[in-house]
Amino acid sequence: MSQHKYSTLSVHAGQEPDPLTGAVNVPVYLSSTFELTGIGTDKGWDYSRAGNPTRDRLETALAALEGGTSGHAFGSGMAAIYALVAMLHAGDHVICSHNVYGGTQRLFDQIVRHYGIEIEYVDTEHLDAVAAAIRPNTKLIHVETPTNPLMVLTDIGGVCEIAHARSVDVSVDNTFLSPVLQSPLELGADIVMHSTTKFLNGHSDGIGGALIGTTPEHKERFHLVQKAVGGILSPFECFLVLRGIRTLALRMKQHEENGRAVAEFLSTQPKLTRLAYPGLTSHPQHALAVKQQRGFGSMMSFDLGTQAAAGRFLGALKVFLSAESLGGVESLASHSATTTHAALSDAERAAVGITEGLVRLSVGIEDKEDLIADLEQALAAV
Ligand SMILES: Cc1ncc(COP(=O)(O)O)c(C=O)c1O
Repeated sequence: MSQHKYSTLSVHAGQEPDPLTGAVNVPVYLSSTFELTGIGTDKGWDYSRAGNPTRDRLETALAALEGGTSGHAFGSGMAAIYALVAMLHAGDHVICSHNVYGGTQRLFDQIVRHYGIEIEYVDTEHLDAVAAAIRPNTKLIHVETPTNPLMVLTDIGGVCEIAHARSVDVSVDNTFLSPVLQSPLELGADIVMHSTTKFLNGHSDGIGGALIGTTPEHKERFHLVQKAVGGILSPFECFLVLRGIRTLALRMKQHEENGRAVAEFLSTQPKLTRLAYPGLTSHPQHALAVKQQRGFGSMMSFDLGTQAAAGRFLGALKVFLSAESLGGVESLASHSATTTHAALSDAERAAVGITEGLVRLSVGIEDKEDLIADLEQALAAV
């Protein structure tokens, strides 16, 4: 199947009928253990932490969608990011995009640093800054593009060229666009990471994460982390993500259409500033978005000036729900400073530009006219 035929791939990759019964849906194998066929032999599975047939199907689908060679499902996006760095050693150096999801920064700063792994936040938007930051002990560059919530892009191909010349791996958090709208591996990245909680699941009914690798070493390493650390996704949650993936391409079309319409409406509104949506020609990296993405998605942020104004806006919304998270069928709005980036100090938020009045939207798949009318009446309340 061609890599760009995402509708077919979404419906079929990893989702072949059950060989035993012909069931067209992947069965949920709720079994912690599997009968062995002899001493040291089995039918492919022995214990569900190490591997489970339903998880295998999801991992196959994820690898196919991203064009990788192995997929690995974890209990959350954070568990997947943890697995990325779990095999590093004290003294290793990791470069991370400087305005990433607050939970990623919390994991790196409050846990991973304690293991003696050095974490350096770099403005990966600037390739010269990336080149300057690489040291002899740099093992990984972790890029989030577009970033949460400021929608800053990193040139994936550019970073990979610099990193690979110095034998450094590049991982990309592709959560905000999904495999349908961006293929980091095609652009040169080594590893893709997802919070499947978002667009891949698409229905806000489960937390999950994934890594997609490109080498036999990635496969071995990430599988070892699944088995040894145990932060795996349960068979039922794997089923939910597989079910979500079946409509991924279809949902992304509607997210994209609604995202563009909402951003264009917001761009005419005088009460907000710093509207960040890569699909607008006013976005400073619009050209890069056109070059490396297949769409602009449905994530955006803007500034209403003060926390009080943001509070009035969120309180007045009727169709959009005021809630964290993103990528579900329903539209959500959130106040970044007190939700996704609450783990950062005031100074850290100020340093990356997460202001008190910043609001992030995840535009869902409702009728766009209803969404725009809702935003219009909520802005009137500000
Ligand atoms: C870009 C990004 N990466 C990672 C995560 C973490 O994923 P999870 O909440 O599934 O652990 C999030 C969660 O919001 C996110 O937005």
